[in-house]
Amino acid sequence: MIDFDRRDFIASLGGAAAVGLMSHEARADELEDELNRRLQLAQAAESSGFPTAAEIDAQITTRSYRRGAGRNFLNTDGENVTRLPAMPAAPTFLDFFELRFQSNNHCLQSANKAMERGVDEEVVLACLLHDLVQVLMRADHGYWGAQLFEPYVPERTSFAIRYHQALRFYTDTEAGYQYPDLYRRIFGEDYVPAPHIQADYAMLRNHRWYDAPREVTVSDLYAFDPNAVVTIDPFVDIVGRHFKQPKEGLGNDGSTVAHMWRTIASPDAPL
Ligand SMILES: [Fe+2]
Ligand SMILES: [Fe+2]
Repeated sequence: MIDFDRRDFIASLGGAAAVGLMSHEARADELEDELNRRLQLAQAAESSGFPTAAEIDAQITTRSYRRGAGRNFLNTDGENVTRLPAMPAAPTFLDFFELRFQSNNHCLQSANKAMERGVDEEVVLACLLHDLVQVLMRADHGYWGAQLFEPYVPERTSFAIRYHQALRFYTDTEAGYQYPDLYRRIFGEDYVPAPHIQADYAMLRNHRWYDAPREVTVSDLYAFDPNAVVTIDPFVDIVGRHFKQPKEGLGNDGSTVAHMWRTIASPDAPL
């Protein structure tokens, strides 16, 4: 069994007061992430504890949901979802960050690590955004995330978000990135990345911007510290400088991705 200290876990989320302000889904997500991390550590301690890709595949019909579904659309512990807080009429990125991207602690840690490593602001921003789209869609999330943010951020930022997904599957010892045990657990130890991931990796190896998505994967590795408490505050100025906030509000701006922001804002819409 996994050793789990409830007090440590609550402290890792910023204490009981902070936990009290989190939605039920956010708490469930954090708990799921924490259990995944502990599983990863427990499995790493065993010599052959990882499932095969076939065993992962066999689990598909044991769930009432598909693993690719966005976190804001289901409650993976089987309980009902809760009412989401109302959005302002012209929501900004920071409104979405606070009110809809509720599983954001990992992204904050990742951006914090990138900042500590002295990475440039376009890539720090990519770290801050890199997994946020998982509230909408988890499958192929790097590509969905890049599309969601592309109209509003520098090209190199969306490039880094898009391709962190492919580079996550490939070790780069020189850059300080090792293939994570978490992937052995969730994809299976013998998993082979899909053809589009292989093709993008081959393209990236010779790309002048290889370093940008690679940095996202490196900061990603160190962004699962259960004791880290980070806030959006150190990144507000970077968002202000590099995120082109539409004055009508995200979702009301007529961009090619406005519907994606509306769906994140209103996931209870039946059609
Ligand atoms: Fe990711
Ligand atoms: Fe990540």
